[in-house]
Amino acid sequence: MRRMVQAMLLTPAPKAKILAIFGIDMRTCHLITGGAGFIGSCHVLRTRAAGVPVVTVDKLTYAGNLDNLCSLANDTKHCFVQGDIGNDELMAHLMRTHQPTAVINFAAESHVDRSILDPDAFVRTNVLGTCALLRVTLDYWYNLPQDHREAFRFLHVSTDEVYGSLCLGDAPFTENTPYAPNSPYSASKAASDHLVRAFHETHGLPVLITNCSNNYGPRQFPEKLIPLIICHALERQTLPIYGKGDYIRDWLHVKDHCEAIDMVLRRGTVGRTYNVGGRAERTNLDVVHSICAALDRLRPHSDGPYAKLMAFVADRPGHDFRYAIDCTRIERELEWKPRHTFDQGIEDTVSWYLDNQAWAERARGGQYRDWIARQYAGYERVGE
Ligand code: NAD
Ligand code: TYD
Repeated sequence: MRRMVQAMLLTPAPKAKILAIFGIDMRTCHLITGGAGFIGSCHVLRTRAAGVPVVTVDKLTYAGNLDNLCSLANDTKHCFVQGDIGNDELMAHLMRTHQPTAVINFAAESHVDRSILDPDAFVRTNVLGTCALLRVTLDYWYNLPQDHREAFRFLHVSTDEVYGSLCLGDAPFTENTPYAPNSPYSASKAASDHLVRAFHETHGLPVLITNCSNNYGPRQFPEKLIPLIICHALERQTLPIYGKGDYIRDWLHVKDHCEAIDMVLRRGTVGRTYNVGGRAERTNLDVVHSICAALDRLRPHSDGPYAKLMAFVADRPGHDFRYAIDCTRIERELEWKPRHTFDQGIEDTVSWYLDNQAWAERARGGQYRDWIARQYAGYERVGE
């Protein structure tokens, strides 16, 4: 309890708001972890728009950003708590207090390049943190009345990277593709998926897992390819492309991902995994060219096309060549399909970053600049 109070006091949200939460009926609330990050915040906003009360728990690592939730500042059915999913006491207290009907776990260390330099942080949050959250959730779930126990769900948000890498011409990943993670990030996510599955098999905890392809959209921390390229382009900096830029990812707009999560939560079969993807495979070169073309249309520069800033830099070690998702299961069972085309989604995303340069500026505070200096200094430029 003392740690919990400390966590509450640490929260930058106004005290009155935290107190208000105890005065309202949160019995149908969702507990969303990692909700100040890119995808988590999109999901928190979507869940509140649907009228469901939300308790957001986020450690506010370098990637967590309360600006992402600023539109909820006066929302009495949203409560933000700064805390770690690995803090049993805090998480148990929040579950007892708010009685969530669902826990949705977005909290993670999420950047492959960082996992190469500091794998321990990924094991701590993605593996040990998820395990602690599962233990606490299990205890909470066991003690629920029968009908609440049946309705309860634990949804774990994961990635297609757990399946490893594909060659050109290989069939896309299905839910039955064996796990073969190659980076410390994907290995830690794979371990967390196995733990989630194990809690279902061993204890009957009603879990669901989603494995999604690369997301893009508003509020993505500018260390990932798409926002990094937009921010660098606007500052007339080099646009760093690893290797030859021929790596392939399947891209999905973050709002489509969150809609999929919602559908899986409401109608997915307990114990099941659902692959989520955009059926939008692009090489990194294609992606960067699309961003540059959108910038040329929306913010033309007197020095000429943005693509002039592209530069090939030394490659990421162990770089997965291709990810591709077969999302037939979610399409057939839940009738989900993406609403955004890649071209429109990129145009909208570039527009968002143009309209929200103050957000990007704040997100790229001191620590971010240190990261970029450390990450890209050693990456020699190997031609344009
Ligand atoms: P993100 O890095 O933007 O956000 C992660 C959030 O988790 C941050 O707000 C961070 O502060 C918080 N967090 C980190 N450690 C924590 C801890 N110990 N306790 C509580 N909070 C903690 O990541 P994202 O891109 O929004 O990804 C969210 C989830 O979706 C992750 O699990 C990721 O593996 C998964 N995913 C991401 C993508 C993608 O393309 N971004 C694709 C598929 C799946
Ligand atoms: P990223 O956004 O880091 O996602 P992931 O590695 O999880 O797929 O990277 C997407 C692709 O873009 C990946 O192939 C690595 C490449 N990339 C670059 O070429 N340059 C960069 O500066 C970054 C961050 C990524």
